[in-house]
Amino acid sequence: MENTQNNEKTEKKKIVFSAIQPSGTITLGNYLGALKNWVIMQEEFNCIFALADLHTITVRQEPAAFRKNVAEAYASLLACGIDPEKSLFFIQSHVTTHAQLAWLLNCYTQFGELSRMTQFKDKSAKHADNVNAGLFTYPSLMAADILLYQADMVPVGADQKQHLELTRNIAERFNGLYGNTFKVPEPYIPKNGARVMSLQDPTKKMSKSDENVNGFITLMDNPDVIMKKFKRAVTDSEARVAYGEGKDGINNLMSIYSTITGKTFEEIENEFDGKGYGDFKTAVGEAVVEELRPVRERFERYISDKAYMKECYTKSAEIAQKFSQRTLDKAMRKVGFVLK
Ligand code: TYM
Repeated sequence: MENTQNNEKTEKKKIVFSAIQPSGTITLGNYLGALKNWVIMQEEFNCIFALADLHTITVRQEPAAFRKNVAEAYASLLACGIDPEKSLFFIQSHVTTHAQLAWLLNCYTQFGELSRMTQFKDKSAKHADNVNAGLFTYPSLMAADILLYQADMVPVGADQKQHLELTRNIAERFNGLYGNTFKVPEPYIPKNGARVMSLQDPTKKMSKSDENVNGFITLMDNPDVIMKKFKRAVTDSEARVAYGEGKDGINNLMSIYSTITGKTFEEIENEFDGKGYGDFKTAVGEAVVEELRPVRERFERYISDKAYMKECYTKSAEIAQKFSQRTLDKAMRKVGFVLK
């Protein structure tokens, strides 16, 4: 992490923090809602990114698959353009302060607040046989992730907005009790791409845990598979490429196409005026294929160079540990702990 330096003063860059769970394949939703922005933000800010592996075990994992998913997620993010020369990019469990601050923050987070989290309600319905305490207190760990780095901005998809609001409430509560300790972070949710929907049920968000694999695109899908999934995408019977109510499928495809090409909805409507959904689906599929082609190619290079990945995440974790320890010590001192 470097600071911008000019002759008169040293200007501090804003701090950006975000994380993703290494819980299997990474989807087009993750990419357009979050990762694409992370890559862009690296140019302007001090960015800190993590693979949130501690979060992942709130749902039972098979150990060998979990280990493989972490390596693949790390390689995938490097392939997307996360650059360890510009940003910190570590594995959450390698930095011990996350679990430590999470415990502290658990004691400043209310049962009622955690009970209202829609992700907790959804996940506990989905995994009714394993509604564990970690799943319930997951948002305080997420708050710890962010607050440890005094982050100004957190780039996420719309589904994380509620967790971000809770993070802000926890920070304000703690600061109110003990004086200024944590920076209160701002969510950074893109206008377009913040909520990529399932291609099979466009009223549901695109998710890797969807039972129907045609509902989601993964970063590793090959071009044929991507084209097939877009051709099968559920739309309406109007056959007119236009954004509108009751046209969830087309709205979703338009928003994917717009996020990738930078075209406005009006431009897209003009481009496909008089053409059918078939042509439009092909164009969206092709845009996605071209966007993901270099990612897939670079992935192969990184996943076969485990030594390079290890060097990157080890170096980043060392810096993150030191940086975050300062915030943890500050918070503990304020609460009244005797530090060693
Ligand atoms: P996760 O791993 O579910 O998702 C990673 C990022 O991808 C975004 N996302 C989407 N965006 C648009 N459309 C979709 N269909 C879609 N699906 C996922 C998510 O909003 C997220 O930005 N709890 C977090 C990980 C985390 C974290 C943090 C994030 C842990 N600690 C601290 C920010 C700050 C999660 O499970 O994301």
